[in-house]
Amino acid sequence: MPRILFVFGTRPEAIKLCPVIVEMRARSRFDVRVAITGQHRDMLGPILSAFNVVPDYGLDLMHPGQTLTGTMSRFLAALENVLGDARPELVFVQGDTTSTLAGALSAFYARIPVAHVEAGMRTGDAGDPFPEEMNRVVTSRLATLHFAATTGAAENLQNEAIPPGSIAVTGNSGIDAVNYVRDALASGALPGCGLGFLDRRRKLIVVTAHRRESFGEGIDSICRALRRIAARRDVQIVWPVHPNPNVTGPVHAQLSDFPSIHLIEPLAYVPFVDLMRRAYVLVTDSGGIQEEAPSLGKPVIVMRARTERGEGVEAGAARLAGTDEGRIVSEVSWLLDHPEEVAKIGRVGNPYGDGRASARIADFTLQWFDRDRQSADRTAAPAATRA
Ligand code: UD1
Ligand code: UDP
Repeated sequence: MPRILFVFGTRPEAIKLCPVIVEMRARSRFDVRVAITGQHRDMLGPILSAFNVVPDYGLDLMHPGQTLTGTMSRFLAALENVLGDARPELVFVQGDTTSTLAGALSAFYARIPVAHVEAGMRTGDAGDPFPEEMNRVVTSRLATLHFAATTGAAENLQNEAIPPGSIAVTGNSGIDAVNYVRDALASGALPGCGLGFLDRRRKLIVVTAHRRESFGEGIDSICRALRRIAARRDVQIVWPVHPNPNVTGPVHAQLSDFPSIHLIEPLAYVPFVDLMRRAYVLVTDSGGIQEEAPSLGKPVIVMRARTERGEGVEAGAARLAGTDEGRIVSEVSWLLDHPEEVAKIGRVGNPYGDGRASARIADFTLQWFDRDRQSADRTAAPAATRA
């Protein structure tokens, strides 16, 4: 059986790779191992247990207030040993984080092919999102297999001379997760978020923010906007605050005294999906939430200047507000005052996936192993650099 190693470390990677791991294990055609970098030590546990994923390697490398260089260097050193022990024939990474790039680069150094899930999204600006845009671009250069969520992402890869035969358009595996949890919550098979303070008479605004390019003035501006929105009597705001100290410090300092703003700890994935289900609007800079929102029929105000997830904007499900105080207030207020438009947005389908991405990823991987076995070329350089 082909030996496959999944390497990941942050919350969104776990949410988007666990369905793929479950699918590959169910096929009984792969020997699947899992290595966790520990980048998000505190937030991964509930996700892994929800999917019954037990890591084979747990690196526990998170440091409070970790820097990009410090994190990357610790990951690379530790992953060299993991790869030496696991000796995988293919390494799976997901997305655009430090764990993603560290997983891809350490595999490349060990001459092990890389499969990149959620490949090909681009803003075209190396500084936004920082460092994620460049992490994703470099991972594409290192990877041999590219799983693009959308045709747009696949086109981006082809425009960078990645061979079409190495790209599969699969949908985003995060949609597999959110659709499953959504349906299980609706049928009562999974318990809800249990947030007893929620007031049914007020429209619920769910907020999250964590992007590095927003630290400082961006976060302050978001807080000012939320104070203005929270002054309305018909709303309540719930913000599960990301544990990054650049977020928790200023957010608690500026918003904890406002009665209709509830700052809470990050929620485990299932309760968070339930919270989003109950929301009137989602206000976020999160990539994953932009993708999940259409599955839940919720509009998203995106607190970023640009997004690599243009499909939601084109479909009318998302609107870009940046971190400008006035823009955030006006976009959210407009939706609060136009429930008929919110209902319309609720009927937009999900452009990021249909819930079957993991199956397509497993199929393509099997085909690749079959093809690759015949050509006996499994440890060659990335396809993009082959002659
Ligand atoms: C990281 C990713 C970002 C991704 C985000 C998802 C990089 C460079 N950034 O940003 O792309 O969108 O995760 O959430 O890879 N912390 C904890 N406990 C945790 C996690 C974080 O306390 O479980 C705190 C620590 O002080 C840590 C800090 O947050 O040092 C920053 O974590 P880090 O992973 O470096 O950056 P994120 O902002 O989480
Ligand atoms: N999420 C969660 N609990 C929370 C906030 C978010 O489980 O309190 C989930 C959310 O549903 C999405 C993912 O975390 O699947 C997004 O992660 P994040 O915003 O940290 O990273 P990004 O997607 O921006 O990289």
